[in-house]
Amino acid sequence: MAILSIRNLTKRFGGLAANDDISFDVEEGALFAVIGPNGAGKTTLFNMISGFLQPSAGSVSFAGQDITDLPQHEIAARGLVRTYQLVQLFKDLTVAENVAAGFHRVTKGGVAAALFRPGWMREQERAIAARTDELLSFVGLDGLDAVPADKLPYGRQRLLEVARALAAQPKLLLLDEPAAGLNLQETAALADVIERVNAQGVTVVLVEHDMGLVMRVARRIAVIDFGRKIAEGTPEEIKTHPDVLAAYLGGVETV
Ligand SMILES: Nc1ncnc2c1ncn2[C@@H]1O[C@H](COP(=O)(O)OP(=O)(O)O)[C@@H](O)[C@H]1O
Ligand SMILES: [Mg+2]
Repeated sequence: MAILSIRNLTKRFGGLAANDDISFDVEEGALFAVIGPNGAGKTTLFNMISGFLQPSAGSVSFAGQDITDLPQHEIAARGLVRTYQLVQLFKDLTVAENVAAGFHRVTKGGVAAALFRPGWMREQERAIAARTDELLSFVGLDGLDAVPADKLPYGRQRLLEVARALAAQPKLLLLDEPAAGLNLQETAALADVIERVNAQGVTVVLVEHDMGLVMRVARRIAVIDFGRKIAEGTPEEIKTHPDVLAAYLGGVETV
């Protein structure tokens, strides 16, 4: 069953079609990647799926329901959670506090609860602290909980973003260029985390420019170029697809 179906998604910025009639399905449990050269329209596509941008045309359905017109927070509340191309951590908060912020959608509370701290709230805080530890350990950041987020090396900040996204208990996780700026070792650590997230049953859609990471982790790939989907298939099929080779080799980039 498809957990995510996009149909004829189109986004126009003035005269430019940043996305032009893009359709594909992502099966539940998949590890799917969207690739394409810089400026191809990958982030725009994620922005429409996650409710950050309204499509000019087309539709998005998630878990069998049309979410095209829902606001971002409603979409996240249903379990479609994204990360951003540029690191979006709370710089002055600690590693643990950044993860705790990710629990927002699954916790209850409010000002009165924060003031009076009823028993259920202390219980909730304990549960969050325990789960935060688990998530930090899952992404390999154990022992760093008290460190300010902006003191972490860049590669670890990206892992922290993944931990924070997991705190929101996604059914579908959208990762926008998580490996951008990472060295080979950091990319390998990230790939390992992505594979383990997926193995736990979370569907993952990855936008990447870095072919190495995509070819290693993705089991199905859609390729976009100048806003249009030009190919879809397994990594093997994509590697040898003539239009993909032309899109990548035609520019300054190599496969
Ligand atoms: N808010 C915007 N306003 C105008 N043009 C935009 C906006 N966002 C993206 N674009 C343009 O849309 C195209 C696709 O951008 P983007 O989706 O960021 O590509 P990618 O993520 O594949 O690098 C680019 O030409 C970009 O300049
Ligand atoms: Mg982008």
